[in-house]
Amino acid sequence: MKIVLASNNPDKVKEVKEILGPLGIEIFSLKDLGIKIEIEEDQPTFEGNARKKARTVFELTGLPTIADDSGLMVEALDGAPGVYSSRYAGEEHNYEKNNQKLLQELKNKPEPHRAKFVCFINYMTETEDEIFIGETSGEILKEPRGTNGFGYDPLFKPDGFDKSYAELPSEIKNKISHRYKALVKFRNYLVEKLKKQNVH
Ligand code: IMP
Repeated sequence: MKIVLASNNPDKVKEVKEILGPLGIEIFSLKDLGIKIEIEEDQPTFEGNARKKARTVFELTGLPTIADDSGLMVEALDGAPGVYSSRYAGEEHNYEKNNQKLLQELKNKPEPHRAKFVCFINYMTETEDEIFIGETSGEILKEPRGTNGFGYDPLFKPDGFDKSYAELPSEIKNKISHRYKALVKFRNYLVEKLKKQNVH
């Protein structure tokens, strides 16, 4: 089965390929298809952004498409950076500046700094428009730890582990992450759909 992933983020493309590849689902990124397009994430919700990205690419390619919108929600910051996770530090944002801004914002907040990563995946075809949600809870560390992964990984310690996402090998992160949980729901949806098709 071939599915397009509507993302220009090489870190996400790598994770989604790692997670869905072993299930026999072949993922094509926009880069793989030679498509150059920047889709503005201007919707107020994760769901809205995921749907906008998936719909745009589905209309362009006519191929089954998934898009993910994800981010970090910190309790003491009323859910920020949330839907603004990728550009938290403003115009000149990058992963490091976003992490520094997060530590700055949390400096005077009581610990522990509870947080969760959330991932919304939208699957769009001619006849389908489905949303799958994954969440992983944990705490924000006082300083970055580890070099694996991307984004806020060095600052996020998932519950049940004493290491940050960035200290865990990708095989482990990919079995507990918000993105993995949403992708498993998507995988299960596809499996059920194929079963029904075989019965009829
Ligand atoms: P978007 O979904 O492209 O809007 O970007 C989501 C942003 O949330 C990324 O740029 C990261 O900053 C953050 N993010 C999403 N998933 C992860 C993850 O698995 N690890 C670390 N940061 C993440």
